[in-house]
Amino acid sequence: MSNESLANLLKEERRFAPPADLAAGANVTAEAYEQAKADRLGFWAEQARRLTWAKEPTETLDWSNPPFAKWFKDGTLNVAYNCVDRHVEAGNGDRVAIHFEGEPGDSRAITYAELKDEVSRAANALLELGVQKGDRVAIYMPMIPETAIAMLACARIGAAHSVVFGGFSADALATRIQDADAKVVITADGGYRRGKPSALKPAVDEAIGRVDNVRNVLVVRRTGQEVAWDDSRDLWWHEVVGRQSAEHTPEAFEAEHPLFILYTSGTTGKPKGILHTSGGYLTQVAYTHWAVFDLKPETDVYWCTADVGWVTGHSYIVYGPLANGGTQVMYEGTPDTPHQGRFWEIVQKYKVTILYTAPTAIRTFMKWGDDIPAKFDLSSLRVLGSVGEPINPEAWIWYRKNIGADRTPVVDTWWQTETGGIMISPLPGVTEAKPGSAQRPLPGISATVVDDEANEVPNGGGGYLVLTEPWPSMLRTIWGDDQRFIDTYWSRFEDRYFAGDGAKKDDDGDIWLLGRVDDVMLVSGHNISTTEVESALVSHPSVAEAAVVGAADETTGQAIVAFVILRGTAAETEDLVAELRNHVGATLGPIAKPKRILPVAELPKTRSGKIMRRLLRDVAENRQLGDVTTLTDSAVMDLIQAKLPAAP
Ligand code: WT7
Repeated sequence: MSNESLANLLKEERRFAPPADLAAGANVTAEAYEQAKADRLGFWAEQARRLTWAKEPTETLDWSNPPFAKWFKDGTLNVAYNCVDRHVEAGNGDRVAIHFEGEPGDSRAITYAELKDEVSRAANALLELGVQKGDRVAIYMPMIPETAIAMLACARIGAAHSVVFGGFSADALATRIQDADAKVVITADGGYRRGKPSALKPAVDEAIGRVDNVRNVLVVRRTGQEVAWDDSRDLWWHEVVGRQSAEHTPEAFEAEHPLFILYTSGTTGKPKGILHTSGGYLTQVAYTHWAVFDLKPETDVYWCTADVGWVTGHSYIVYGPLANGGTQVMYEGTPDTPHQGRFWEIVQKYKVTILYTAPTAIRTFMKWGDDIPAKFDLSSLRVLGSVGEPINPEAWIWYRKNIGADRTPVVDTWWQTETGGIMISPLPGVTEAKPGSAQRPLPGISATVVDDEANEVPNGGGGYLVLTEPWPSMLRTIWGDDQRFIDTYWSRFEDRYFAGDGAKKDDDGDIWLLGRVDDVMLVSGHNISTTEVESALVSHPSVAEAAVVGAADETTGQAIVAFVILRGTAAETEDLVAELRNHVGATLGPIAKPKRILPVAELPKTRSGKIMRRLLRDVAENRQLGDVTTLTDSAVMDLIQAKLPAAP
């Protein structure tokens, strides 16, 4: 990446210091960096003491067989006890753990005492079904409290869960059930999405036909819709769980006991079952949730809008917040049901203080207009978080201004399914924030940027993001495939974890993420990141969202092709397209001017909100579309292709 374009990305030069009151009472101060730097393992040993161990660990890290780490290996604990029972024992049983808001408007508040009873009942039910320590249970659910309860019940009895996002097909579900060899599937009749019940059980029925060892399907009744029933296998949750005792004594497991498998689709090959274990994982998610969001469990109302089916939901809906004894909101549905102000209505209703969402959602809210959040009282908010992809400086500023009243810190948190917990992020009471940058590895985390030859780049340089020391919540392997674990993450650079993301260091040494390395374009010998060109486009007042790809080009190697969604009022004219090209040229330099810009109505996204550039590249190169099964809405691609003949 040329230094020229780095300078340009940093054109947004405003800096945002932490609010004085927040800084004064912050959980974490700048000292934490120093402390962790002086004694990294000592720092993590101290963080592990946030947890309640049945046997306290004496060894922090065993790295004698890299890249297979063992954290806190002689310690034992029960993860569910840490997330539930100990808060009740500490006298906080009446504190609300989950404020559930159903899409149709139904709501339920579940206290820690109630959660303890429910998790215990569900654990007893799983035991009755013959689930044992070390088994796997698949969970295919809507966003309802029973999903968290099911996960915690598995953790309580030492069975690893494999949550499969409820939007995935029967096919994807079958592959994942089979790979993990799950014995039981927990599902629901359906959930509410976009104002309608959306079925889940039919996909389970179809998937079960293709797998070997599923003995039972436990079905939560959420929507009351008709379901096909197989008496030999299917059981209603309310019957089986409902009749169990609320007493269950949690057993302590080793720190390295498997907690869950979560599949990442990746761009190639079969899905990778990312394995996370117990003690190190819980230590890091508890610490980071407390540090990055400045969580005050007695007073904060935290809301993470992710689905529990993604790692964000595992770490920052279930395990982190509950380990910390926090109060949170869980919302079942979509942000525009029944109206585009639904999120803000929820913030107002529950007086949410910490909001954690994704850039794709933020850009959607920008598109819908500033007047929508302006109708609601958002004054309770004090920290805003972002996760999932690089946040364009434009979207960052919009978020802070329109949701955070130009007052709240925005923390841009970089991490992955594989890292288990947040790795690079500002700290809200410490960091002078730079819009668009995740900035600094958290205390206890070591990351840097290297070039092709694995040399660390100087400030101002760009290359690949690597993690240089093991961390407690790191993946332990790919389920059933140690070699693939080594090949995928530990072979590109010796002794370093290769994250697959492009990144740069600015002059202060702060880190800017540039998207997956597969998304970097090579135009006339220059590396240009898709993220940069997208940010340049989005910084134009007429553009709401942009996706950029490099398409094979005879003269330049690759040519930049941009797909843009215009803001409500902008007219789709040739003049505007020319203006946008010039705008990118003026922002990033002439080399970055897109060869083609196509205004479109929607962009193809995965169900987790990531733009599928692979499909756009197929379109731009006039190829038959590749696999579209993980797309949220496949009609989007028809609309985009219909646009093509008009292109120059
Ligand atoms: C990839 C991991 C982390 C939970 C959700 C996604 C991208 C994630 C950021 C960020 C820039 C980000 C990276 C990463 N990513 N957060 N704050 N800034 N990029 O988990 O599905 O495993 O995806 O998401 O490319 O490698 P995931």
